[in-house]
Amino acid sequence: MPATVIVGAQWGDEGKGKIVDLLARDSDLVCRYQGGPNAGHTIVVGEETYKIRQVPSGIIRGKPSAIGAGCVVDPAVLIGEIDELEARGLETEGLVHVSGNAHLIMPWHVALDGARERRLGRLQIGTTRRGIGPAYADKATRIGVRVQDLADPKILREKIELAVAEKNVWLERVYDLEPFDADEVLDTLLDHAARIRPWIADTSLLVDRALHDGRRVLFEGGQGTLLDLDHGTYPFVTSSSPIAAGAAVSFGIGPARIDDVLGVAKSYVTRVGEGPFPSEIEGEAQARVRELGQEFGTVTGRERRCGWLDLVALRFAVRVNGITSLALTKLDVLSAFSELPVCVRYRLPDGTETEEFPAHQSDFHHCKPVFETLPGWNGELAGDGLPAVAREYVEFVERALGVPVALVGTGASRERVLTL
Ligand code: IMP
Repeated sequence: MPATVIVGAQWGDEGKGKIVDLLARDSDLVCRYQGGPNAGHTIVVGEETYKIRQVPSGIIRGKPSAIGAGCVVDPAVLIGEIDELEARGLETEGLVHVSGNAHLIMPWHVALDGARERRLGRLQIGTTRRGIGPAYADKATRIGVRVQDLADPKILREKIELAVAEKNVWLERVYDLEPFDADEVLDTLLDHAARIRPWIADTSLLVDRALHDGRRVLFEGGQGTLLDLDHGTYPFVTSSSPIAAGAAVSFGIGPARIDDVLGVAKSYVTRVGEGPFPSEIEGEAQARVRELGQEFGTVTGRERRCGWLDLVALRFAVRVNGITSLALTKLDVLSAFSELPVCVRYRLPDGTETEEFPAHQSDFHHCKPVFETLPGWNGELAGDGLPAVAREYVEFVERALGVPVALVGTGASRERVLTL
């Protein structure tokens, strides 16, 4: 399909990087549509493992890649990643495009993200502390600094002076932190500007032309559906729109131009940070899933909380994204278990049961999972097909959601993806 969105169907970390990497092979342009260096993608190519946060995964395939207006960009992280990829022998010249309308993560955003989390104490959100929330907040308040400002030192100075004057009051008086010096910040950014300027592009026009010419465009989201600012488990969410429609908003194309939405879901569920998590695994099995799945944050190294597959939450993801097919990743992790609980309904505080994700946060916070237990396949997932029992697990998911599972991940490397 010419325009495909790849969207995380859970709380992020579904293994989107690997699926994007696979589909990027047949794409002409890969576009990242929201978030910033809070998203961590791990891509294994032969002996090499790439952990990238800011650049779109397509770059590893040598594909033209774009960062949309809906993203926030930490200039030092972006430049650092491009340099590292180049140092490891990947060619990136002419492949990186960054929307001039994307916002920059400034040093005070990082300082404020950490300070706010500390201040919240046990009510903290568990952010990645990369300055994501404060950068999006400034975008909405309209005192943000944008990528295109890097091309105009005079405007850049004005914007930095305006922001520093306000941020320093917060930093010093509210959080008891060191203030920033506008000149120092400007000097650092002007250094970064020299590198980033050639990458600045009209990414709406880029995508429009590509689609018009019949080229294949892949949109990759960071995080996942349940971390969406509007539709996720607020306030334990990120500050942007990971859902599929976010791709159209970020790249400035009409929503009808998106042909296909591929939802990526793990065969179980993980969550980092705080917030309710109905299918969270009780007892030792949680640590076992974490070890087998290597569920530690790419960006923060934090332990991820692990749960059994939650079909109520996945049904919600199918709805809000308009998912047309699913990729079920890391099925091999479940090989170690002889019984596989799957959450099929939630029991609400009033005793009723539902297959639909609760619209009210209190219902979600207090619901209990209703599990159906499926048999495990007692063996490794090797070779080109799935054992019958594993196939039944996949078909159970398809029937419950009314969406085909197109891809199944059976191991970490690039080759271990089965097409069904
Ligand atoms: P922020 O995006 O750093 O503001 O963090 C807000 C919430 O989103 C926290 O619960 C984070 O743990 C979560 N989050 C952000 N990025 C990711 C990701 O790539 N994977 C999983 N969770 C994430």
